[in-house]
Amino acid sequence: MPVDMDQINALARPKGILVIEDCSHAHGAGYRGKSAGVLGDIAAFSFQMKKILPIGEGGMVVSREQKFLDRAWDFVNLAKGGKTGQLGYNLRMHELQGALGLAFLPKVDGHNETRRRNAETLKKAVAGLPGIRPAPAAPPEDAREVYYNFIFDFDAHAAGIDRTAFLEAVKAEGVPLQRNGYVPLHTLALFEEMRERPYRLPENAPILKGRKLYGKGVFPVAEAAIAEGNIELKVHPPRGEQEMADVGTAIRKVLTHAGDLRARQEKTAAK
Ligand SMILES: Cc1ncc(COP(=O)(O)O)c(C=O)c1O
Repeated sequence: MPVDMDQINALARPKGILVIEDCSHAHGAGYRGKSAGVLGDIAAFSFQMKKILPIGEGGMVVSREQKFLDRAWDFVNLAKGGKTGQLGYNLRMHELQGALGLAFLPKVDGHNETRRRNAETLKKAVAGLPGIRPAPAAPPEDAREVYYNFIFDFDAHAAGIDRTAFLEAVKAEGVPLQRNGYVPLHTLALFEEMRERPYRLPENAPILKGRKLYGKGVFPVAEAAIAEGNIELKVHPPRGEQEMADVGTAIRKVLTHAGDLRARQEKTAAK
């Protein structure tokens, strides 16, 4: 789902900040008549095995600026044999992967269409149920969305059941809903340990002024969404109308009996 890129560009451009699009989930997505990948300065697509164009591993960088593409190519192609003075790697795509990609590419639009139809069925199936709603609640205007996974926002209080119990009960109905496996990047120890680094860059000093960038609590809304409120479902083909209808039925059933499930949980806890 593209974010509101006009707003992001309007913030970034006057300050000379480059906008990098993470298009790992966005093959075929669009925004205000343009495709994801050309909405900022540089974009990266993932071809990892679970993505919309899955050819095993690897990815693609796109940009309208030749200098960024040259820099990316140096990086993946041994820094022109070490001649650039920069560190380079051997991350070149295998020809077999390229061939797989070319064979898969014509199928992407059709798969996206199925994913979109599945998403619409799901949205209808959960409409009006307490505690669960499709995310984002308000997609940007004129977005052509694609669904790598379908994401729900979950509100345990409104649902009357916590997320773990909800997911277990839905799974018992044969539906593989799951919490996502993401960890907010700013809370990873790797970045926490680098906490001081941005403060050492003189150009950052005026904006940072002692502000904390990494660690728990910096982005409380994102952290809470991942810790408590986020659920995902795979919607790729061959899953179709029937599977989505089954998901809706299972969710409805569990939420309708949330009170019973909670009572059972409390009884077990009291033993
Ligand atoms: C949002 C997002 N960005 C980037 C990546 C990284 O992609 P890759 O695994 O191809 O490096 C992923 C992978 O899951 C992702 O989900």
